[in-house]
Amino acid sequence: MNIDEITSYCRRRGLVFPTAEIYGNYSGFYDYGPVGVEISNNIKNLWWKTFVQSREDVTGINGSIITHPKVWEASGHIASFTDPLTECAKCHKRWRADHVISDALKKPIEGLKIEELTKLIQKNNIKCPDCKGALGVVQNFNQMFTTNVGAVEANTAYLRPETAQSIFVNYKPVMDSTRMKPPFGIAQIGKAFRNEISPRNFLFRLREFEQMEIEYFIQKKQLSECAYFDEFKDLKVNVLSEKEQHKGITTNSIMTISKALKEGVFNSEWHAYWTAIFYKWYLNLGVNPENLRVRQHVKEELSHYSAGTVDIEYNYPMGWKELQGVADRTTYDLTQHELFSKEKLEYFDEETRKKEILYVAAEPSVSVERIFLTLLFEGLKEEKERTVLKIHPLLAPYKIGIFPLVNKDALPVKAREVFKELSAEYNCFYDDSGSIGRRYRRQDEIGTPYCITIDFDTIKDNAATLRDRDTMKQERVKIKDLKEIIRKKLIQ
Ligand code: GAP
Repeated sequence: MNIDEITSYCRRRGLVFPTAEIYGNYSGFYDYGPVGVEISNNIKNLWWKTFVQSREDVTGINGSIITHPKVWEASGHIASFTDPLTECAKCHKRWRADHVISDALKKPIEGLKIEELTKLIQKNNIKCPDCKGALGVVQNFNQMFTTNVGAVEANTAYLRPETAQSIFVNYKPVMDSTRMKPPFGIAQIGKAFRNEISPRNFLFRLREFEQMEIEYFIQKKQLSECAYFDEFKDLKVNVLSEKEQHKGITTNSIMTISKALKEGVFNSEWHAYWTAIFYKWYLNLGVNPENLRVRQHVKEELSHYSAGTVDIEYNYPMGWKELQGVADRTTYDLTQHELFSKEKLEYFDEETRKKEILYVAAEPSVSVERIFLTLLFEGLKEEKERTVLKIHPLLAPYKIGIFPLVNKDALPVKAREVFKELSAEYNCFYDDSGSIGRRYRRQDEIGTPYCITIDFDTIKDNAATLRDRDTMKQERVKIKDLKEIIRKKLIQ
């Protein structure tokens, strides 16, 4: 399915709506509907369970969206968090210069300076995509949204463009209160805001989105001491290295994580490990291995804080694009905050009696919305007789649809009894309208993995029909066994 079909499916089936639609288009902002909010919550809960609660070495925080403005001075976002902008001289529409050029030349444009982008526009005579007017000189445009705090207008503050900084400024109180020792990570899920010049592709590039990030802190001497590396060293991944991109190669090579590390795709074992564990997570969630790759950033496109970044990219209908980034942020952020706050942020090693600024060996960072969109591209299928969302059962908005065969006699009472029992553990959907076939189709379309039909025999034998979304097979099961059967299916 293409992006327009996915957008219209989301609108129709209650996953995602354009925000405040009654007032017209408001680019870059979307609202989750009843089905979408469940999927989004499930993504966040599974991420948190997998990467925070199930690990001894990662703990979580939830920082405020507006924080001290000094944070953004120290982090470099006020000076460097910019995108290249070009304006049409005729219609005055503003465009993201690298995107307009890349669309016109039909090739990726990464990491060029604004002067080089201006030259490309002029050399190739690239015009405004809307009105064909002349495009102006490319300028840097800061992506942070500003607001004022308190009654004084001059008190400018910023909506955070990344959740990461809340982690850096809380690193000390977290360490003091939890007594965590490196290597350890601090995780956060929360809203981030970017005044994107041209938000596009539905949920892919938004102005308001939710990030899930981990900052993984180590002592520099631990860079090659990742205790979990062996578990992932033989994982085969598609790779597009910096070297290959410099040669103009755009096809992926398949290699193991350890070979990619040897070839310099990753900066350290930790950097490789945190990429591998997420790559595997996406595969486990059902992403087709052919649609996933690790692309190393070329030097020119690295963010101001990064000594090396790889993106886990997905092959979207609009091309290979970043699903998640994994950056080696070095000691950059903590050093900057120490400098600007004048507070000591060093770690004291009790064994060596030495102090040092901890090193962020890996920052895995992704938005809920990019995962959401990726899973729709992977899972939404038009089959002969139905539209079905083959999303991983753990992420499905409802786990079970419960239907009385007919809406009379003792059947609705029995069906509501089953609903009450199962909904204590699983999010269930009760539906008593239309034919059973129609009810199955409706649940297929929103990804409900299991449906239970209560019929006249149920009243006698306390058994019901359990139907599987993917195989459409039906089996007769005892109602008292349902909870356990579903539990086993969900953890398969
Ligand atoms: N703290 C690092 C950081 O923010 P980034 O590559 O700018 O790095 C990380 O963003 C992730 O956040 C991306 O991989 C993507 O999943 C998500 N993301 C970034 N900008 C986004 C946008 N405008 N809309 C939706 N998701 C976005």
